[in-house]
Amino acid sequence: MTSTEQSLSGRIALVTGATSGIGRATAIQLARQGAGVIVHGRDADRGEQVVAEIAQEGGKARFLTADLSDPTEIRRLADEAGEGGEVDVLVNNAGISWFGPTADLDVATYDALFDANVRAPYFLVAALAPRMAANGGGSIVNVASMAGTIGLAGGAAYGGTKATLTAMTRAWAAEFSPSGVRVNAVAPGPVFTAADPERIEALGATTLLGRAAQADEIAQVITFLSSPAAAYVTGTTVAADGGRTAI
Ligand SMILES: NC(=O)c1ccc[n+]([C@@H]2O[C@H](COP(=O)([O-])OP(=O)(O)OC[C@H]3O[C@@H](n4cnc5c(N)ncnc54)[C@H](OP(=O)(O)O)[C@@H]3O)[C@@H](O)[C@H]2O)c1
Repeated sequence: MTSTEQSLSGRIALVTGATSGIGRATAIQLARQGAGVIVHGRDADRGEQVVAEIAQEGGKARFLTADLSDPTEIRRLADEAGEGGEVDVLVNNAGISWFGPTADLDVATYDALFDANVRAPYFLVAALAPRMAANGGGSIVNVASMAGTIGLAGGAAYGGTKATLTAMTRAWAAEFSPSGVRVNAVAPGPVFTAADPERIEALGATTLLGRAAQADEIAQVITFLSSPAAAYVTGTTVAADGGRTAI
């Protein structure tokens, strides 16, 4: 790797939900940029596999587990993440989705959606952004969704969580950017990850590019926003959706 490729050399990045999908791809790309990556998730086997993959490429990573539906675990994760040095980059990627008729969504699943997609990023930012500010700055990237912008039948609650996350992104940018902490979001369109491939493929066909994305294509945008290459970018939500929200 050349020095220009390693834009995050010496930085520490915490990627939530890095045991799978977009988070995994992001952890690998951030490590290629020289960051020491904290791979977070619940599944320790998959987490250690990501750590091993990064190590094989010559990168640095460690795994931390936490169930983000539990606020006590969120606090513990934030504390443990800071043990090897302050976190410079936080990628709030972990999340869950649910699609179906509004009348079919039970209260427990509704709460689980908002706990994972809204409450967890909120309290991770609450724990880490002030520390980043005290440390001279940092970058936070929240993984939202095009479902937060367009009306997808069956996606009212999920879209609600992601629209909330983009609103919080703007407010956090206003709160923390003056202290050097940039806060942005990426709003992916359909991405081939763990979720139902047929639904993803059908949604992909409705985009201007006529296809769904690979996780790496979203990770590229997250990595850009995390890095000094995006030094003048804060408070924005970047659509990585094959043009779907342009129409
Ligand atoms: N795939 C898409 O089409 C798409 C489109 C737009 C936005 N997004 C957003 O992108 C993000 C990543 O999605 P993905 O498709 O890559 O998901 P994925 O492959 O299902 O991975 C989800 C990750 O989140 C973690 N996670 C979920 N709930 C958690 C909890 N309560 N505590 C701790 N970790 C938790 C999982 O950890 P374990 O597996 O270790 O339990 C896993 O690492 C999500 O926020 C999603 O809403 C996805």
